[in-house]
This record gives sequence, structure tokens and C-alpha cells, in this order.
Amino acid sequence: MTLPRIVIERCQYLARCTKEPDAITRPFASEAMRCAHDSVGEWMREAGMDVRRDNIGNLRGRFEGAGETTLMLGSHLDSVRDAGKYDGPLGVIVAIAAVQRLHDAGKRLPFAIDVLAFADEEGLRFGSTYLGSRAVAGTFDPADLDRTDGDGITMRDAIRAFGGDPERIVDDRWQGGELLGYCEVHIEQGPVLEARNLAVGVVSAIAGQERHRITFTGEAAHAGTTPMDKRRDALVAASVFVQAVEDYAGREGLVATVGQLSVKPGAANVIPGEVTLSLDVRHADDALRLIATRRLLDIAAEIAKHRRMGLKTNQMSEEATVLCSQRLVSRLSQAVRDIGLPVVELASGAGHDAVAMSALTEVGMLFVRCKGGVSHNPAESVKTEDVAVAIDVLSRFLDLLAN
Ligand code: GLV
Ligand code: MN
Ligand code: MN
Repeated sequence: MTLPRIVIERCQYLARCTKEPDAITRPFASEAMRCAHDSVGEWMREAGMDVRRDNIGNLRGRFEGAGETTLMLGSHLDSVRDAGKYDGPLGVIVAIAAVQRLHDAGKRLPFAIDVLAFADEEGLRFGSTYLGSRAVAGTFDPADLDRTDGDGITMRDAIRAFGGDPERIVDDRWQGGELLGYCEVHIEQGPVLEARNLAVGVVSAIAGQERHRITFTGEAAHAGTTPMDKRRDALVAASVFVQAVEDYAGREGLVATVGQLSVKPGAANVIPGEVTLSLDVRHADDALRLIATRRLLDIAAEIAKHRRMGLKTNQMSEEATVLCSQRLVSRLSQAVRDIGLPVVELASGAGHDAVAMSALTEVGMLFVRCKGGVSHNPAESVKTEDVAVAIDVLSRFLDLLAN
């Protein structure tokens, strides 16, 4: 079997590591993640790497080089709920494939390669983002250890159950000397490459984003006996807000999403007394994002006031826009040209571990075309030929850095 085909089959194989039958759902520090580590660790070792798991739960493979410096490659192994097969795993497995090529050729580069399979990019379990890459970058916030998941389990206990020491996450910080940068291969998750008929593209920047948790509190009451004009229905307030978010977003480059809604008490014959929802806001211009979020939170307050509701808002995360390093962008572009393809640079609307890694070192990313631009959906699909291009570009990129 060819290496690109192996990459595709491995991504498909990992689909069996899931918390939910008939769907891919692989949360941080879960049994499903342990299952993925078993396979990915094996593949790393086959490619000549030393493998370890750190305290936060990243799987780290190291391919020694002839010199003192290190290049980091990687992506994440956690997923959203009912995910596709490629968001995350593709970047890890393409990185392993590039190392496998070196190993098979008996080649050592002047630098070591660390392949990082990150523990939590999506934030599915704790509403966090980039837990794994933050630990490596040294920006993990110990206050996050007190966050709880949907079952009331603290992050501290989840890490312990997974085999890490939550009090020693500082030790996960990169301590191996000079870094040449971090490079991540990822599916595009958007329509640009397909529209331009290109297998890969070089990422110029990653748009900033923030997430909030918003709770409207009204009054639970009897659905049969409470007159319509006496109700304080929290779900109606939340629905008005969801519509307002859609109306407000859509202006130049701004995207905003309500993706989670929890309705209490949640019974057919009870007027909803409390609704908690998520708000995700993104823009490549941080100043515009901040203005937009302020306006959206004001709108929530206006709705709450008008409908005699309590309102609680809580910022869960915020990331500024990150520019990819000119040095790595230019090497990746050269690598694309060297294999005979045109270079297109594009910005990422999705967040990536490269964002957190930018606090530690220079970052670069290579996007791979995906079918219909579809992602965060089981229909995610990638062509073997495009994976072949990604491996070739990454291998050429390594050569360029070596010379
Ligand atoms: C990660 O996939 C994100 O951009 O939300
Ligand atoms: Mn994702
Ligand atoms: Mn991803």
C-alpha cells in the first residue's frame, strides 16, 4: 500500500476510537483518546520515534536528528461531537508519514522532529481550547483544572484518571532547547482550495475568536395554566437572541454562532425557566471582533431587560489573530513550487493548535483541500492524491529547512 493510502486508512481506522457508537466523538482524556493513543503511538514507533505521553495527555513522538535544534510538527487527536475523520488526525498522521519516509531512507536531518498529537483542540469536554498545545507552549492556566465536564468531573480528576499529574503540567512545557518552529498540516475546512482546483494551500494567518456562555433566567411554570402574557420564557428570549446573532453577523468577515443550547427544566409541559447557550465570535481583525462581541452582549442584555429575565454572561476563551511566520510561509511556499504546483496563500477561519504554539515559537500551516469544504461533520472527505501532495510538500519543506 502507498504511504498516502496508509494515511487515509489510518484516519479511517481511528474512527473506531469513539465515545459514542455510530459517531466519532473523542473528547479530551477519554477512553476513546486512550484507544487513539494506542494506535498512533504504535505508528510513531514504527517510524523510528521515541514515544511518551505528557501530563496534560499529549502523545509526543521524537525522531532524533544530527544537531541540537528541533522542529515541531503535529495537530490534534480530540474531536467535536459527531465529527469527521480528518480534522486533527490528518495532520498528526501526515507528520508521521513524513518521518516514516526519513526513517525508511535511513536519513537523519540536522534537526530533530517532535511530532505532537495534541490532547484538546476542540474543547468539547471542558469548554476549553488548546489545552494540549498550551501545556507545551507554557501558557496552560492552572485555574482551568477546576472546570467541570457535563458529568461534574473536574479537569484535575480527568487528567489524573488518564494517567497524568495535574500538578506537574508545567513540566510539559517545551524544555528541549532551540526550536525551528511548529508546522501543522490540516484540512482546509472551507471552500477556497476546491474552488481554485488546488490540492494544498499555505496559511497566512488564523482568525481570532472568542467564546462566551450566556444564561437567560426566567421562570419555570405550568404550560397549561400560565397565561401567555404572564410568562417569563427563557427559551423565547434565547431564540430572539439566536436570531439577533445571525442578523448581526454576516457583515464583512464577521462570523458568529450559537452552537449549544441547554433548556431547563426541559419538559414538554413546563415553560423553560433557564436557558444557557454558547456564543462563538470570529474575525481576522481583533478590534472588529471586540466591537462585535460587545454589541452582541449588549443585545442579550436588552432582550433580557425587555423580557424581565436574569442574564449571566461568562467569557470562556479568547484568542487573538495569529500571523504565520514569514520564514515558514516562504519555505512552505517554496516546497509547493518545488513539487510543481501553484502557491495560494489563505487565511484560516478555524482555530488550530498553531495559535497556542505561536506563544512558544514561529508557526506555519499547510491546508489540504477537503470535499465541499465540509468539516465538523461526518461527511468530511479528503482525496488520497491530495494527501500524497501534502506528504511531498512536507518532505520538501523538511529538506529546505535542512539545507
Ligand atoms: C476548531 O475547530 C475551531 O475552529 O473551532
Ligand atoms: Mn475542529
Ligand atoms: Mn482541527
